[in-house]
Amino acid sequence: MAQFEEKKFNIGELKGISPKNIEEHLKLYSGYVKNANMIGQKLYELYEEDAEKNAYMMSELTRRFSFEYNGMRNHEIYFDSLSHGSSPLTEGELKKVIEGSYGSIETFLTIFKMTAMIRGIGWAILWYDKKNNSLLNSWVDEQHLGQLQGCTPLLALDMWEHSYVADYQPSGKKQYIEDFFANLNWNKVEENFKNAK
Ligand SMILES: [Fe+2]
Repeated sequence: MAQFEEKKFNIGELKGISPKNIEEHLKLYSGYVKNANMIGQKLYELYEEDAEKNAYMMSELTRRFSFEYNGMRNHEIYFDSLSHGSSPLTEGELKKVIEGSYGSIETFLTIFKMTAMIRGIGWAILWYDKKNNSLLNSWVDEQHLGQLQGCTPLLALDMWEHSYVADYQPSGKKQYIEDFFANLNWNKVEENFKNAK
């Protein structure tokens, strides 16, 4: 299986989210990359050794793979969108498609922030549905349960407690969501949209 490379990010000073929290969070990201690679390697070894005898172990590792892989990719979208400083949403195509899908930017923000407030560990994700030329948002439990098939993630907000509790305490979840948008580099989201089309 091809190996995945750990990405580097250029994250400057952020509103509300401390450098220490980002540093610790990046270590978790690194763990997802390592584990995604490790599963690929282990599956290969088990197959080579004796696929029939190792079938149960292989099936459990295969089941685990989507957790590690999506954990890696979700974090890349998140950290990328916090890199190179914040920038506003421009008067471009993404803005039009948000307005077309949600009615207005304000409605989109309200709905997305409500999604992020869903109880539990997971992600609020904004998707581009190419088949319908529209946007959707969903809640993804853990890293891998609730992805929308065939849609491309444009924006991913980590709502695992490790992403905010050290700076905000559990009761500061709402403020963390607000600060995420204050820190967001919309250029990156627009770039994701351009690549998804
Ligand atoms: Fe995370």
